[in-house]
Amino acid sequence: MARPVDSAAAVTPRHYLMCRPTYFAVEYAINPWMDPAAGVDRARAVRQWEGLRDLYRSLGHRVSEIAPIEGLPDMVFAANGALVVDGRVYGARFASAERTPEGPAYLDWFRKAGYTEVREPKHVNEGEGDFITLDDVVLAATGFRTEAAAHQEAERLLGRPVVTLQLVDPRFYHLDTALFALSGDQVAYYPGAFSEGSCRVLRALYPDALLATEEDAAVLGLNAVCDGRNVVIAAEATALAGRLRALGLEVHPVELDELRKAGGGAKCCTLELRGASE
Ligand code: ARG
Repeated sequence: MARPVDSAAAVTPRHYLMCRPTYFAVEYAINPWMDPAAGVDRARAVRQWEGLRDLYRSLGHRVSEIAPIEGLPDMVFAANGALVVDGRVYGARFASAERTPEGPAYLDWFRKAGYTEVREPKHVNEGEGDFITLDDVVLAATGFRTEAAAHQEAERLLGRPVVTLQLVDPRFYHLDTALFALSGDQVAYYPGAFSEGSCRVLRALYPDALLATEEDAAVLGLNAVCDGRNVVIAAEATALAGRLRALGLEVHPVELDELRKAGGGAKCCTLELRGASE
């Protein structure tokens, strides 16, 4: 069982990059959640996204926005745009042709925002969707999108140890659909999303982790954002929310079901900018 959180500890304000879903749609299917025949309510997606952005601000976090680009319906999932650690930017290189133009678009934003260490990646990787940064290690996934060679590329650039994990369930095609950080040294995850070997690695690294159920994972409950005190999580993940509350965390349920039609939740919409741009 995960240790209770220290609710007296100060929350460090975070800086997030988000992209308004102005051109959001499900026009192609690159994961099992997407059904182009089902249709989306774009105005509702925008309202839900604004709710998420405003919630972050009300919690004291800073939110910057990248301008959405017409014809890139998945650009709202900013977590895939890059990985930013200590102000160093490791750019994304998307696995699908449909999302490929997002890589340069995000790199451009970082250069214009004044980031000086901006790396164009050699290997396929979908940014923070497949890399989760903790205090001592960066957890990185492969299996559906990001190539293992990108883990080494990121490790060299960031100078932090990167631990490779293998995803095995196509519903949980990005690491951030199956695992999130509760703090710098604690995680919550759904073991069924990982290979047996990766489950062993996770058990060794985080013996006290919160283990989520398939029901929690199936509503993208693990696609959550935690600042160490507050957890922003899919409203449908009620059982997981209860267990997070029992640990002393403040739970903020968000309705993002319109964006879930593309296979994304709160975390997918959120790219954390760690470290200064100057
Ligand atoms: N439709 C998008 C895709 O399949 C969803 C991306 C969700 N992002 C994430 N960080 N899990 O690429």
